[in-house]
Amino acid sequence: DRGSMPTRRLAADDAGIEEAGALLRAGKLVAIPTETVYGLGADAGDPAAVAGIYAAKERPRFNPLIAHLPDLAAARREGDFGPEALRLAQAFWPGPLTLVVPLAGTARVCDLARAGLPSVALRVPGSALARKVLAAAGCPVAAPSANRSGRVSPTEVDHVLGDLDGRIAGVLDGGPCPIGVESTIVACLDGPPVLLRPGGVPRDAIEAILGRELAMPSAPDGAAPVSPGLLASHYAPRAAVRLDAARIRPGEAALLFGPVPPDGLDDAALSLNLSPAGDLAEAAAHLFAHLRRLDAAGPATIAVTPIPEHGLGEAIRDRLARAAAPR
Ligand code: TXA
Ligand code: MG
Repeated sequence: DRGSMPTRRLAADDAGIEEAGALLRAGKLVAIPTETVYGLGADAGDPAAVAGIYAAKERPRFNPLIAHLPDLAAARREGDFGPEALRLAQAFWPGPLTLVVPLAGTARVCDLARAGLPSVALRVPGSALARKVLAAAGCPVAAPSANRSGRVSPTEVDHVLGDLDGRIAGVLDGGPCPIGVESTIVACLDGPPVLLRPGGVPRDAIEAILGRELAMPSAPDGAAPVSPGLLASHYAPRAAVRLDAARIRPGEAALLFGPVPPDGLDDAALSLNLSPAGDLAEAAAHLFAHLRRLDAAGPATIAVTPIPEHGLGEAIRDRLARAAAPR
């Protein structure tokens, strides 16, 4: 039993940043705000610290984690960037893009953080506060979303504390996360770049920089998924989730998008709108907080009205499909 420890709530000022960096350097777990979601950070070069992430999250198996760095120079010590990876890094970092590249000879990210893979997932977050913590820590920081395994990702400090209070050394309070869905993951290994996870950078923006389409992960029959950890039920609320609902059934909770109310809304138990104006960036920013709020009311089902597939809609629909997956 890891027992319980007081979780310190650190302010987003110089003292809080210094303290967060010092705790990370000392092998402790600290939740840090990024522009996408709150991450549960640990020194990616310290297997004991990385193991602590799995214990705190109660994650049943070791998935490879994203290592966070303060800048491209630090990232290039961890991974080998080919020309396309470099172009993407220069175009989108700092920002919500993760690049999977071959591990560099100078890398500090440990085997456990990579789940033994010969590649490494790297990201320079867009949040200036996150980059200051990473610079203060002085080590690559492994950080999956700061929620308990199987729960919805946290976009506010209270979500983090609701799941992890007493299990981690600290959480840096950076307010709500402006993007609200996790980073887009692109693998730049052998062959054409592959979209492993849609996220905060829309596919079209990446394809425009590459001058070609992103490949999709190949899933050979019966083989393990290319991006382990992309479990179907990863973003699961307690309620069942019904997608592309044209009408709301009596007693359902409703998650809406856009200005037009769906049929049956009057009989909904409760409803929240991701973006009454129909703006996908606003919808992404509200997605996880709204899912948590609807779920907390205890409905049997959350019905979600249709969300467009373009731009950030791809990432939003991906997360909702995972939330709706059988489990
Ligand atoms: O926005 C984000 O990316 C957030 C914030 C905290 O930065 N982090 C995040 O981390 O979503 P995590 O651990 O939940 O997602 C890591 C994903 C996993 O799905 C894993 O399969 C994939 O990255 N991944 C990591 N290393 C990989 C590798 N070497 N090859 C393929 N996929 C990898
Ligand atoms: Mg997660």
